[in-house]
Amino acid sequence: MSNTAPRQILVTSALPYANGAIHLGHLLEYIQTDIWVRFQKSRGHECRYVCADDAHGTAIMLRAEQEGITSEALIDRVSREHQADFATFGVAFDNYHSTHSEENRHFSELIYTRLRDAGHIATRDIEQMYDPVKGLFLADRFIKGTCPKCRTDDQYGDNCEACGATYTPAELIDPVSAISGATPEVRSSTHFFFKLPDFADFLKRWIDHGHVQPQIRNKLMEWFEAGFNEWDISRDAPYFGFEIPDAPGKYFYVWLDAPIGYLASFKNLCEREGLDFDTYWKKNSDAEVYHFIGKDIVYFHALFWPAMLHGAGLRTPTAVNCHGFVTVNGAKMSKSRGTFIKAATYAEHLNPEYLRYYFAAKLTSGVDDLDLNLEDFAQRVNSDLVGKVVNIASRCAGFVKKLGGGTLSERCTEPDLVARFITAGDEIAEHFEAREFGRAMRLVMELADEANTYIAEAEPWVLAKQAGKEQEVLDICSVGINLFRQLMVYLAPVVPAMAEGARHFLRLDDLDWESRHELLLGHEIAKFKPLMTRVERDRIDAMIEASKEDLVEEQKLKETPKGPLADDPIAEEIAFDDFARVDLRIARIAKAEYVEGADKLLQLTLDLGGETRTVFAGIRSAYAPEALEGRLTVMVANLAPRKMRFGVSEGMVLAAGDDGGIYLLSPDSGAEPGQRVR
Ligand code: MSP
Ligand code: ZN
Repeated sequence: MSNTAPRQILVTSALPYANGAIHLGHLLEYIQTDIWVRFQKSRGHECRYVCADDAHGTAIMLRAEQEGITSEALIDRVSREHQADFATFGVAFDNYHSTHSEENRHFSELIYTRLRDAGHIATRDIEQMYDPVKGLFLADRFIKGTCPKCRTDDQYGDNCEACGATYTPAELIDPVSAISGATPEVRSSTHFFFKLPDFADFLKRWIDHGHVQPQIRNKLMEWFEAGFNEWDISRDAPYFGFEIPDAPGKYFYVWLDAPIGYLASFKNLCEREGLDFDTYWKKNSDAEVYHFIGKDIVYFHALFWPAMLHGAGLRTPTAVNCHGFVTVNGAKMSKSRGTFIKAATYAEHLNPEYLRYYFAAKLTSGVDDLDLNLEDFAQRVNSDLVGKVVNIASRCAGFVKKLGGGTLSERCTEPDLVARFITAGDEIAEHFEAREFGRAMRLVMELADEANTYIAEAEPWVLAKQAGKEQEVLDICSVGINLFRQLMVYLAPVVPAMAEGARHFLRLDDLDWESRHELLLGHEIAKFKPLMTRVERDRIDAMIEASKEDLVEEQKLKETPKGPLADDPIAEEIAFDDFARVDLRIARIAKAEYVEGADKLLQLTLDLGGETRTVFAGIRSAYAPEALEGRLTVMVANLAPRKMRFGVSEGMVLAAGDDGGIYLLSPDSGAEPGQRVR
């Protein structure tokens, strides 16, 4: 492959949902994509990598409600968290945007109206389960009931976890809304459909032209034979998303505007950098467009998406690159086993570059699942990166310092060996290009073995003890450093932080693929610092334990009620003793403050006559903080502390209220903070 004409390449990874943390499963995709992008940039191509948060849909709307914040506040916070995680793992996007953006609204409307005007949109009424309490149509996963086959309780609306049966929500026995507990009703409403069957011939040609991997092509062929349905692209209000033009109360389904987010993020980058959007997206563009995705979302990317683009007069992707799923120690990631590991939890315990290398070493261009075996992970990283690669530099650096004053020899005594390392770059590049990272890493490690063998056989440490051998020792170690440099060029896309350390050590401006052709002769290098340390097994154990704790925190958050004014069912009768167990106290509101990101909560500091408590109360809509300070109220003082998003709430204040208003209870004058209420 030659570098003469730079290619224009646009690359995307799937847009992560804005309601959950990035975990190691996600990271396989972002790391795979990032390695490929870094490789293309190293080769001198014009390659841009864009992504965004996938911010719309019912799940995000409900999650925000549960946390007592607006959807906008939730997606802002999660976007910051996602970007911090990506930065920690060296995933270097050229742009990170959101599907809840003006660019995305523009392109969603544009593509939709073009499809509609060309006759590819149909409307018809459909019947669906509706939650009369919440005022929401319910997707299958928000309906629960008893399995019609095996009669297990508490099963989701589309399949039974106990017996594996699949069914429609209407078949469930005693269905209830998983959101409110109400019995759902069947209601009818008008929906909009994208006429996918219009594109059957186009798609058949498209998938036959090498735009997808062979395994994916086979899967798509099965779908073809089963026949296509029209795709329901609308949802009724209330919905967090974009309203459909000229259809008040109807919103684009999240999966309609999600892939359009690729265009939106790229457009946002074009505006910032003065790039020409149409060069990339016009029909028959010479630029290349690649989408990296997981195998669970092939249907959307290899059928709906090319059909939408084609129908709207835009170019289709050069290729959709699909990967398999991450398993840990041979099994699906599991919260209870502690193998559902969040990116942030991993990074608290282990170097992100270990994971990048391990994934690279195991990645192919196929769609097989990839097992993160933690024992193998430690062994592989320690033996390859630390034992083989770093070892070359650490064995040679000291002698260069001592015998050459930090300057490498003026001559190369092993030109053939070094030339072979340089030539190997062509084959390694082919593997990177083809996303056969495992093969690339194997070649690099074979070279590392050769370099180590060369040094071991030359025995510079033995020669160094003999008089008059200084130049010879310097020559050997200079060859070693040159070989190490070649390896770091090849590894830089995989372990960019380590490569950055190596670049400083080698005092080079860059480690681009081309740069390897120039030998380092009479070149000054810096003092050697260890570029990577060994994986310690107890850190892995600590990470697993911490992941189990993450689960406990999450459970607590789920159980957090929505505050004192949540719609409670009518209270059942309780015994006097039950009531007596509630410790009600007079409290003085010492301080009241807004909670950033929570539009319903105030944070109260309560004085109980000596003891202070922090309580989060859902009373922001009724009280300005300054109006509360100094005031007396009544609190439940023996409520178990609850961890909320913003901190721990150590009790609850009493208020009356409904939709009409909120009224904090106060004692008559004379009551004292800390007094028991009976
Ligand atoms: N929001 C959609 C994608 C919209 S793209 C227009 C979505 N989000 S996701 O957060 O669930 O997943 C993001 C990417 O991570 C997907 O490509 C998905 O396949 C990938 N992975 C999520 N879990 C994974 C594993 N356990 N293993 C490997 N990849 C996984 O889907
Ligand atoms: Zn069942």
